[in-house]
Amino acid sequence: MNARSRNLPPATDMAQFPVARPRRLRRTAPLRRMVAGTRLHPAELILPLFVKEGIDEPQPVASMPGVFQHTRDSLRKAVHEAAEAGVGGVILFGVPVHKDARGSAADDPEGIVQVALRDLAADLGDQLVLMTDTCLDEYTDHGHCGLLTETGEVDNDATLERYASAAVAQAAAGSQVIAPSGMMDGQVGAIRAALDAEGFAEIPILAYSAKYASGFYGPFRDAAECAPQFGDRNAYQQDPAGPIGEALREVRLDLAEGADAVMVKPALAYLDVLSQVRAMVEVPVAAYQVSGEYAMVEAAAANGWIDRERIIMESLIAIRRAGADLILTYWATEVARTLS
Ligand code: PBG
Repeated sequence: MNARSRNLPPATDMAQFPVARPRRLRRTAPLRRMVAGTRLHPAELILPLFVKEGIDEPQPVASMPGVFQHTRDSLRKAVHEAAEAGVGGVILFGVPVHKDARGSAADDPEGIVQVALRDLAADLGDQLVLMTDTCLDEYTDHGHCGLLTETGEVDNDATLERYASAAVAQAAAGSQVIAPSGMMDGQVGAIRAALDAEGFAEIPILAYSAKYASGFYGPFRDAAECAPQFGDRNAYQQDPAGPIGEALREVRLDLAEGADAVMVKPALAYLDVLSQVRAMVEVPVAAYQVSGEYAMVEAAAANGWIDRERIIMESLIAIRRAGADLILTYWATEVARTLS
């Protein structure tokens, strides 16, 4: 709800039919285009990309038709295409060969994301924004987003050091925005302090602030090969049924810890959260149209049940209308091409 709609008089004080005819402004395509309040621009789109270590050919992700685990070469090509289309940025996820309990590949300078970033930074880093997801789940053998205690719980405070170290490794390799997604308390502050101490004070943090424990991440866990080997993420990601205040508090805490922009995730099922976050903050707000949102549309379209292009645009418009300044979407390059 914006300020204007809040101050309008009740409908009974307004001109009524036949004086009032809302259809007048819908009559022609130019009229509709002129009054459309919600517009998409390629520069607001961010493309998530997966890069896998030790493969020679890009590998299709079965549950996400059209999405690949990239080789270093095919990643470069995908980023190049995104830049050509005018996409605002890419966010990288790594799939390492070796995983261990502490997620060593996350902060190894020779880890796959760091190597891939150095490939890209040289010739593509000034054409779009190179961003990295900072978490441990892609790198741990148990698949949880942090270090585990003896009893198998995620150890919040011990994990912070690992995130800080991974963020510094990413920044050193050429990441231009750090996006912590693990939902540990204090993660933004820990990463901010480490980046500042290591000479990366100018690198912004896009915090996954309101991130829900969602079934919509299912296909991502195939793409990033990071399904938890036991249990679930319910003790650190937010409960879908939790109060909206919980999301707003997470956002405020992240801003107090130094976040430069915040994110709500998933997108379509959480537009109410998105719109309230938008109303509360001054910083850019991102929304992540996640893997399950993508997969549902692709699957239904493959069956001929829905109009694919139409639904893609409609869902992105809805996310934008609810308040997102930035949208992470696996369709970024395709949509950017359509828009330009
Ligand atoms: C965690 C992370 C996840 C996604 C982005 N970052 C997975 C999770 O929390 O389980 C999901 C994105 C998607 O579903 O598209 N590193």
